[in-house]
Amino acid sequence: MVGGSRILNAAMRGKIMSADEAANLIQSGVNVGMSGFTGAGYPKLVPTALAKRIMDANLHGQKFKIGVWTGASTAPELDGALAMVDGIEMRLPYQSDPTCRKRINAGEMEYIDIHLSHVAQFVWGGFLGKLDIAVVEVAGILEDGRLIPSSSVGNNKTWLDQADKIILEVNSWQNPALEGMHDIYYGTALPPHRKPIPLLKTDDRIGEPYYTIDPNKVIAVIETNKADRNSAFSPPDTNSQLIAGHILEFLQHEVKKGRLPANLLPLQSGVGNVANAVMAGLQDGPFENLTAYTEVLQDGMLELIKSGKLTCASATSFSLSPNALVELNADLPRFKDSIILRPQEISNHPEVIRRLGVISMNGLIEADIYGNVNSTHIMGTSIMNGIGGSGDFARNAFVSIFMTPSSAKGGSISCIVPMVSHVDHTEHDVQVVVTEQGLADLRGLSPKQRAKVIIDNCAHPNFKPALREYYERSTRYSPGRHTPHLLDEAFTFLPNWVANQAAREAWREDSLVQADAWKK
Ligand code: COA
Repeated sequence: MVGGSRILNAAMRGKIMSADEAANLIQSGVNVGMSGFTGAGYPKLVPTALAKRIMDANLHGQKFKIGVWTGASTAPELDGALAMVDGIEMRLPYQSDPTCRKRINAGEMEYIDIHLSHVAQFVWGGFLGKLDIAVVEVAGILEDGRLIPSSSVGNNKTWLDQADKIILEVNSWQNPALEGMHDIYYGTALPPHRKPIPLLKTDDRIGEPYYTIDPNKVIAVIETNKADRNSAFSPPDTNSQLIAGHILEFLQHEVKKGRLPANLLPLQSGVGNVANAVMAGLQDGPFENLTAYTEVLQDGMLELIKSGKLTCASATSFSLSPNALVELNADLPRFKDSIILRPQEISNHPEVIRRLGVISMNGLIEADIYGNVNSTHIMGTSIMNGIGGSGDFARNAFVSIFMTPSSAKGGSISCIVPMVSHVDHTEHDVQVVVTEQGLADLRGLSPKQRAKVIIDNCAHPNFKPALREYYERSTRYSPGRHTPHLLDEAFTFLPNWVANQAAREAWREDSLVQADAWKK
């Protein structure tokens, strides 16, 4: 037996059972709120046991599907395992699993891509239906029944409050020094009962270090000692380094102009390699006493804390590569005062983000010449991951930055296009666009001024002439219009559309798969 000492409450000890037994308590058709935010803090055993059960049911000709609600993306043992056996009816609010992605784009899985800060209130309001079961990983159970959160918080507070029944996975692999790092705020409510959230600085603690639950709802306790699983980051490539360089130069310029303080404002950095590279760039930059009010704490941010450049990071989850995780766990008590993990309804709360004046930095798939951004869809139809928290931050940030290499797929697709094929962030929420080619500061510019700056500063040289020509013909065709476009050409004209036969064919194939799935 592992982890016995982590369960100090006698009644909870009485509910210990195997993951298979716990999975048998989950019926087809229910909605399950699972812990997990990136590859951190997700239940390691019950989803896999449930996937086995679903496979058995399928072999006996029975359909077995559940609704899976999480904090954000998880790991292969959760999303991957359940998607593999086609066990997910409805998935929300963010995923990045390749099998999930395939099923969603084949019409085999419903997916609701919502702002991460909206999830808790949607559940409280009953907009998503009933939450039947919570399956939540914790780092331990106290004598009085309160729970020590593990390496991510996400929506766990809401799952534990709202679900009829609770299954707990107590993970003794999680570092005991996590105790005390969390700040679980219980003061949120639905309107008209809302009160201001009393968080004025990134390092303010406004809640408690534990989850409080109704112990009668707990139907199973499972013990595990399995490790979190996040992928390694690729070392920053030339494009990422150039993007990081442009952002650093911009931030220095803003400080010089007196528009940002010398230690900047709290940083938010999105998921992925480019975001991680920007954090690494700050390591060599001139800024000291930085803070972060963000969603995930990636390797680059941990390095900044270690070097003393970043004094405090508030997040909802760790999202560290295996090596960084080993380093963190070897020295976790040292970070107790500099890292705070909060529920995602607080880490991504518009009120707090607006008050703190966050500098947000997120990735994109396409930006158009007027500054609209597509973060989620390939060719306007196939989901990549989801909007995640990027909308929570972008709309409310003091400076909202979006970044991308100027081209994708070996240079065959331009990431700057005439009109985005799907809109996640409108021109009103996008203040700065950066590629390896340069940076476009869109603040204070009209649409036509924005188009010139985006094409000149951000587009890849191979696509620049075609984009300029599109813009010039648009202005000739509709002289004086506020936002010139050639609507019949806006998509078919796309450089990638014309230049990239392979992408077009892949897109067609994908549409056929989708059409077949819809016919069935
Ligand atoms: N057309 C087709 N494919 C494109 C593309 C385009 N215009 N732009 C990017 N891609 C592909 C890349 O080729 C790559 O595919 P691959 O994995 O098959 O190689 C993939 O999209 C990811 O692009 P990459 O350049 O590696 O960037 P990234 O890892 O920084 O991810 C997003 C970019 C937009 C997918 C990612 O940032 C995301 O999911 N954002 C939305 C959620 C978010 O912002 N969360 C943070 C909020 S806190």
